[in-house]
Amino acid sequence: MTRDKTGAPGAGETTTGVRPVAPKRSTRPARRPARYTRADERDSGPSAGSDPETHPAATPRGMTMAESGSDAERLPPILEARDLTMHYRLGETRVEAVRGVSLSVQEGEFVALMGPSGSGKSTLLHLLGGLDRPTSGEVLLEGALISALDDEQATRLRREKTGFVFQSFNLIPLLDVTENVALPFTIAGGAQDASQAAKVREAISLVDLSDKARHRPDQLSYGERQRVAVARALVTNPAILFADEPTGNLDYTTGSEILDALWLSCVARKQTIVLVTHDSKAAAYADRVLVIGDGTIRDEIVLGRRSVHDATPLITRLAQLGL
Ligand SMILES: Nc1ncnc2c1ncn2[C@@H]1O[C@H](COP(=O)(O)OP(=O)(O)OP(=O)(O)O)[C@@H](O)[C@H]1O
Ligand SMILES: [Mg+2]
Repeated sequence: MTRDKTGAPGAGETTTGVRPVAPKRSTRPARRPARYTRADERDSGPSAGSDPETHPAATPRGMTMAESGSDAERLPPILEARDLTMHYRLGETRVEAVRGVSLSVQEGEFVALMGPSGSGKSTLLHLLGGLDRPTSGEVLLEGALISALDDEQATRLRREKTGFVFQSFNLIPLLDVTENVALPFTIAGGAQDASQAAKVREAISLVDLSDKARHRPDQLSYGERQRVAVARALVTNPAILFADEPTGNLDYTTGSEILDALWLSCVARKQTIVLVTHDSKAAAYADRVLVIGDGTIRDEIVLGRRSVHDATPLITRLAQLGL
C-alpha cells in the first residue's frame, strides 16, 4: 500500500517532524535495534537480561535505544504516537481515558502496555491501531499519519498493515482452521491464489496447528482457538500486530502457548508486536514494557530481548516503583 491510499502524504513528502520512510514494505529489513541479540547469541540462563534498565516515561521521540548514535537510533520508528488524548463523554461526565501519550515502537520490537484495569490500555491500543480516532494528537504508522483517516481509509489500512488479536477469539464457527486463517484474504475479495494458500499454511504451521487444519473451532481447545486467531492476524504479514489481553480467557499453561506463538513470530519473522496485558508474566515476553496508569505512560522498563521470559526482574522493578 502506498501512503496515498491511506490519505497520508505521498512518497518523498514529509510529515511534521518525521523523517520520511520508504512507502512500501515488501521485505523485512535485515537490521534490527543494536541492543538486541540474536537467539543464537543469547544467554540462556535464568539470569539473562535480569537487570532491566528503567527510564522515565517515554520521550516524544521514544529515545530508548541503549546505544546512542547507532544504526538503530537512525531508523525511523514503525509506529509513533504524539500527544494522544481520548476523551469520552458520558452525560455530564467526561472520562479522560488517554491523556497526552507519546511513544514510538521500532520495527521488529515487542512492546507490552501494562497497567491496571481502567488505566486506558485498550483505548490506547485502539488509537494506535486505527480502530478509533483520538480526541487530539497524532498516530503515524510507517511514517503515514493514520489518526486522521476517514472510516474507509482506516478500514483499508487495518486490512493491509495491521493484525489484531483480542481476548475473545472471534472465529467463525462454521469455518475450519484453514478457512478462518484465510479470512483476511477472503474478505479482501478475489480468487485465492497459490501464494495466499501457502501463506495460510505457513501461518498455521507457525502456531503449530498444521495437524488440525481441517478442524472447526468447536473441535479445538481454547488455547488452540486463540492460536488460530494469532495465525489469522499474521497471515497477511502485517507491519504490526496488536494484541489486547490475548491470554485473558486462558489458564497459565495455555496462555503461555499463545505468548510463545507471538514470541516465535517476533524472532522468526521479525514481527513488530504491541501487546496489552495486566499480567507481568505476559509482559515479560516483551523487549520493553510501558507501564500505563490513569491514561498516561507512568514508566518504561527495558527488558531487552531474552530467550527466557522470566518475569522476576519485571516484578521486582514494578515493586521498586511501587506499582
Ligand atoms: N466507550 C466508552 N465510553 C465511555 N468511557 C469509556 C469507554 N471505553 C472506555 N471507557 C473508559 O475509559 C477508561 C479506560 O478504559 P480502557 O478500556 O481503555 O481500560 P483498560 O486499561 O483496557 O482496562 P481493562 O484492563 O479492564 O481492559 C475507563 O475508565 C473506561 O471506563
Ligand atoms: Mg482493556
